[in-house]
Amino acid sequence: MLLAILLLFVLVLLFVSITLLNAFKVMYAEQLNPTPYIKQLKEPVLDYDKWLSLQPKKPSIWTKLLSLRPIEEEGDLVIDHAYDGIKELNNPVPTWFNVLFFGTMIFAVGYLFYYHIGGYGDLQDQEYEHEMVKAQVEKAAYLEKSANTIDENSVKFDNTPTVLQEGRTVFTTNCVVCHGDKGQGIIGPNLTDEYWLHGGGINNVFKTIKYGVPEKGMISWEKNLNPKQISAVANFILSLKGSNPAGAKAPQGEKYEEKSLKDNEMNTVKDTVKKDDVTKK
Ligand code: HEC
Repeated sequence: MLLAILLLFVLVLLFVSITLLNAFKVMYAEQLNPTPYIKQLKEPVLDYDKWLSLQPKKPSIWTKLLSLRPIEEEGDLVIDHAYDGIKELNNPVPTWFNVLFFGTMIFAVGYLFYYHIGGYGDLQDQEYEHEMVKAQVEKAAYLEKSANTIDENSVKFDNTPTVLQEGRTVFTTNCVVCHGDKGQGIIGPNLTDEYWLHGGGINNVFKTIKYGVPEKGMISWEKNLNPKQISAVANFILSLKGSNPAGAKAPQGEKYEEKSLKDNEMNTVKDTVKKDDVTKK
């Protein structure tokens, strides 16, 4: 790209240089041998009668199209008034203009019937509304698509009812056999307590569901669920925290404490130090 621009620049420079050189040459030649100021006119001026005689006798298509009268008849067309020596010809209205003019009338009638009487087409307001609906659909599709690019790093905690509802549906159809209808745990661990085998943050849960723990009987859901569904079910699982369902399986794994996203690193470091101190005591 840069090379191309440079090349172009060099070419332009070359062109300018050559032009300037030529200009200087002409100036130099003029200086040595000036061209006479008044040039003799070689060709005589064409007079009107001669020009008229040279005009084609048959009217051209162009002349017909413009509804012009042959040039010889112009004398009859002159309207009997003159302003400051300017005369006017009474030429008929050209065909193209008439076609256009009557065309607009026919169009207007058609338009009236189509939009206002027949109601076949959308008027401005309706068109606007339809476009808005279309945009809404497109927007939803776009959001859907962007939601499908979620991964374990970008997934966010989201407890809006629609998301949780979707998560519940995914959970009921896929997960209850092993985790129980309330997430209390059967073959799989209890998902409602604070103890997690693979971390209890939204990112951890998403990752566990996506890749699974195949050697322990938790399959990878990457192939059967799209990222949006995984995100929804992960959020649904987090919403079960503390629900304490009957027959809950005993806690497995470690207690997971959510680190606040607002905490900066210093705070996190301090917290760890404090916790360490407590454990030492
Ligand atoms: C075939 C049985 C089975 C099914 C179906 C199943 N799981 Fe699991 N799941 C398990 C097992 C077993 C584990 C424990 C894995 C381990 O010991 O590491 C587990 C672990 C998990 C964990 C990690 C829990 C923790 O403590 O870290 C999550 C989250 C989870 N499953 C979510 C789901 C979701 C969501 C679905 C449905 C889409 C699902 N599971 C379907 C068997 C299953």
